[in-house]
Amino acid sequence: SEQDETILRALQQNEEIVQGICDNMRNAAGTFFIGCGSSYNACLTGSYLFSKAAKLHVNPVLASEFENHEHFLTDKTLVFAVSQSGETADVLDAVNAAKRRGSRVVGIVNRDGSILARESDGQLFMNSGPEICVLSTKTYTSQVVLMEMLAYALAGKYEEGLKKIGSLYLDIYKLTSRSMREYLAKLAAILYDKRDIYLIGRGAQYATALEAALKIKEVSYIHAEAFAGGELKHGPLALIEEGVPCIVFVSSDNKSKILSNAEEIKSRGGYIIGVASEREEIFDYWIKVPEAEELNPIIQIIPMQVLAYQLAVYRGLDPDKPRNLAKSVTVT
Ligand code: M6R
Repeated sequence: SEQDETILRALQQNEEIVQGICDNMRNAAGTFFIGCGSSYNACLTGSYLFSKAAKLHVNPVLASEFENHEHFLTDKTLVFAVSQSGETADVLDAVNAAKRRGSRVVGIVNRDGSILARESDGQLFMNSGPEICVLSTKTYTSQVVLMEMLAYALAGKYEEGLKKIGSLYLDIYKLTSRSMREYLAKLAAILYDKRDIYLIGRGAQYATALEAALKIKEVSYIHAEAFAGGELKHGPLALIEEGVPCIVFVSSDNKSKILSNAEEIKSRGGYIIGVASEREEIFDYWIKVPEAEELNPIIQIIPMQVLAYQLAVYRGLDPDKPRNLAKSVTVT
């Protein structure tokens, strides 16, 4: 993994452009964040960050569902289109709709010269370098870095944000170290023949759970499904039986609530895998990550990407080329 370096590259932005985008956000009458797949999960993460750090409401919408919201668009609306490739047809359709209604479009893209980069009124670049694998990994973390950066800037803490995000470099490096990979390989050996894996989180960790589930299902073909912790009692608990694995994302701000959700699963026989900075009694398996508070969304997805990769390897699959999927989805 090169994500210790790519997060630093994502931080290399022109401050004036970032502050200008923040002004656009403060002044807009309605802000949408649209994307597909992992890029949408980054949008959802952003929506939690902006709400908490900057008290600013934005609407994260799947690009393929955006047509249902188009009637809200005016020349005062701001639309962020998030796409690694800058070629995703669902995203480009949404951008065209926004432009037809005179809304301002900001593209969060990896590739300069992509259609989205050309079509948007403002751009933020991920600077991740080419991503060959069908799975988004480094570009996902870069998208989340950009969301975090915007959240800090909106809260008037741009410089502090750059420092804090930049200081994750070493943590990310350690999370992809050999010993961590070996530890996750042991977990993959426990999980690789399971039919289902469930994942839970609250707040931004719910978005992380969705992204981790997407990675696992894309590459290992295991049914992986994420829930917001508080939703368990509204249906998903019926799925839990002896030995069903559940990955639980713990953050200092929602620790007691998510652990009590984990307890709901454990008491029905579930096997609990905690992604947390501290070992809890309830964990059957513990993936140790540093507590990075509002920056947890950057940190906690890394071991999940490694785990997904290892699940594919255990199942004899090629992690770079999942069946039925293309890197750029240029059809609607
Ligand atoms: O190029 P984009 O960011 O627009 O792609 C969006 C999705 O197709 C993409 O994130 C997809 O979900 C990945 N395969 C996830 O790993």
